[in-house]
Amino acid sequence: MLHVTPDSDAAALLVAEQVDEVLARVAKPVLMLPTGSTPKPLYALWRQRFQGGGFSMAHCRTFNLDEYWPCSTKSPISFRAFMDEELFSQVDLPPNAIGFLDGTVKEPDFETHCAAYERAIVDAGGLDICLLGVGVNGHIAFNEPGTPADSRTRLVRLAESTRKRPGFPQGVDAPTAGISVGIQTILDARKVIVMAFGADKAHAVKRALEGPVSIDTPASLLRSHSNVTWVLDEAAASALQGR
Ligand code: GLP
Repeated sequence: MLHVTPDSDAAALLVAEQVDEVLARVAKPVLMLPTGSTPKPLYALWRQRFQGGGFSMAHCRTFNLDEYWPCSTKSPISFRAFMDEELFSQVDLPPNAIGFLDGTVKEPDFETHCAAYERAIVDAGGLDICLLGVGVNGHIAFNEPGTPADSRTRLVRLAESTRKRPGFPQGVDAPTAGISVGIQTILDARKVIVMAFGADKAHAVKRALEGPVSIDTPASLLRSHSNVTWVLDEAAASALQGR
């Protein structure tokens, strides 16, 4: 399913409606959440609706896609700090319902940490919804081009375009690595919603939706999933056929 909306605020409304449907239907919904500039309008909408009494995450369990490594939550680039500020501290999601990859985990403990994350998702009942942004090179979470479709949570090396993405805090050295759920972790979700906004995403969106299904464009691998919704603004959709 593909939706093209006039702007990212209209897209956020549409995504919120789709999430609402799951939150209303599932007793203990499990959500996978993204960071970056893309989900900001959605989180702003959720905050606003929570303040108005029209939204609750009290019954939800969440996981996040990725975290920089090495990275403490005190760092201005920490995805955990971003989520605390944008969402977790501002809605009624119980702190013990938040799953997050640990950017301070030591190298010998990677395998155990990543396996425990995968297990926690399964133990929670699996992902009801995975919300995603897309990198300019077509990456999803920190799964860079070349990542196998059957990948799971692991340490990843970051592409230059990922390290230098717009919106990265000025004056901070971008880490060369991250910890990320894998493509298979994402494909296991019962529903996937991908958001992409702005002209700099148009090429990645075109390759993901109209190019070959290939590990060269990780987002194209989503085409093997039976329940994926793409929500784009006009600019991100501008390179698609017929636009
Ligand atoms: C980072 C994140 C991705 C995100 C991407 C796009 O690499 N790991 O999950 O989708 O950036 O970021 P933005 O939404 O800021 O364009």
